[in-house]
Amino acid sequence: MIIELILILVTITLFWYFNTRKPDKFPPGPPKWPIVGNRLQLKSWGALPHLAMGEAARRYGDVVGLFSGKIPVVLVSSLEAIKEVSSREDFSARPRSKLMEHIDQGSFGVLWISGEKWKDQRRFTLRNLKDLGFGKRSLEGIAHEELEAVFAEIEKISGGQKERWSHPVPVHDILGTAGINVLWHIIAGKRYSHTDPYLQKLMSNVKLLIKMTEPGGGPATAFPFLTKILPFLSNLQKILKLRASLQNFIKQEIKKHRESFDGDNPRDFIDTYINEVDKNRHNHQTWYEEKQLVMICVDLFMAGSDTTFNSLTFSMLYMILYPEVLSKVQEELDKVVGRDRLPSLEDRPSLPYVEATINEVLRLSTVAPLAVPHSPWYAEKDAELQGYIIPKNSRVILNLHAVHHDPKIWVDPQNFRPERFLDKNGKLIKHEAFIPFGAGKRQCLGEALARNNLFLFFSGLAQKYYISVPEGHPTPSNEVEGGLTVVPKAFEVRFQPRG
Ligand code: HEM
Repeated sequence: MIIELILILVTITLFWYFNTRKPDKFPPGPPKWPIVGNRLQLKSWGALPHLAMGEAARRYGDVVGLFSGKIPVVLVSSLEAIKEVSSREDFSARPRSKLMEHIDQGSFGVLWISGEKWKDQRRFTLRNLKDLGFGKRSLEGIAHEELEAVFAEIEKISGGQKERWSHPVPVHDILGTAGINVLWHIIAGKRYSHTDPYLQKLMSNVKLLIKMTEPGGGPATAFPFLTKILPFLSNLQKILKLRASLQNFIKQEIKKHRESFDGDNPRDFIDTYINEVDKNRHNHQTWYEEKQLVMICVDLFMAGSDTTFNSLTFSMLYMILYPEVLSKVQEELDKVVGRDRLPSLEDRPSLPYVEATINEVLRLSTVAPLAVPHSPWYAEKDAELQGYIIPKNSRVILNLHAVHHDPKIWVDPQNFRPERFLDKNGKLIKHEAFIPFGAGKRQCLGEALARNNLFLFFSGLAQKYYISVPEGHPTPSNEVEGGLTVVPKAFEVRFQPRG
């Protein structure tokens, strides 16, 4: 009996020891539990994990190590360490997992893939999107058309002149397709109506998908075996269904493009890519195939729609919370642009206060607070970071929000103060800790388009309207919701034309 008891005790001790032991030189963090690791803790961080990760950094340091099941999760929170991870080749991969294999169907797209294929596809995508007008003036007309549609929607909801623009306007409802239509024009040469039910459905699917993506890896990543035996415990089936709706939408678009395709006159990104697919038809080693085109379009749609929409929504929130900033924005717009035409991209260099305000929106909101996870899994061996060893299969999470709210870097970081981006002569200054689009090798591929869209939409709305809290309404809070991206909670504003 005693021997059996000793055997049981030894077994439990060994089990405990081997399952709670961390690798040598693993970054500091909370104790690891057998089987689950720190999964329960990661889950308890809920919908806004960047805030809890900030807490963890205060407690354990700039580089914190945890485990989601068996998968190491490394939180990186200082500017120095984030810049190092972002610029290093060995950290330029994205994490792989069983879930990812289902999602990108064996390494397709651009957002989640790694290695030489990622480099090639990122280069091709960026070059061709640029050639097609990405971040150029030629897209201004499309953005202006979109803006006019937003103005019309505001007039309709607020009751216009007839009802003295008195009805509150729900901001989330009017900005819905604003940025995505400009992007979609480059990809597919098309524009959707604001009220198009199909596009609205896709946008809400994108939102759901982003909400379901846990930066630390969800249950399907931590416990892949569960996905098979207890599929209801993971969101895998739901995620795949939502992604299938996006893929089908893009497949149909590619089919329509094929029907009227003229290789000598590519109209948009889809045509340009089809040309490349056709050129490589007999090359068995090629990365250029239609499936890859579908997945790149899905990635651009996923990465580009929510982020731009959320940033614009934040810009409206901050304008009603900080009316003195709106007045200064309007004063500068009146002086440089006047009120007879819409602000143009050519005006940007002459509007430093507007630019500083947009930078401050991007800093304070940090709509992609944890960027997109990196990983050293593609490197030859485990990576070393600030004296710690980061195992190859780690998910490395960059807390951009922590950098943007670090009181050691920014004076009064919680305050909305565009002046921090201006020198004493009112000229725009660059701030090396300003990294809303990430930095280095994986830096956002859509930054130029996003910045132009934000400028055109924000300055157009500020030029045209007084924007305020509707009478009798409480001032909205600056509380946010989301996950991988964040957005303000729903709020309404009063738009009144400035004449
Ligand atoms: C305000 C708007 C936007 C913000 C704040 C933003 C932010 C980011 C961030 C933080 C990353 C991750 C960087 C990293 O992994 O270290 C990223 C990646 C990416 N973004 Fe954006 N983004 C925005 C708009 C867009 C738009 C409009 C597009 C569409 C073209 C886009 C496409 C991408 C892609 C494809 C990646 C992955 C790049 C890669 O893995 O090589 N983003 N973005």
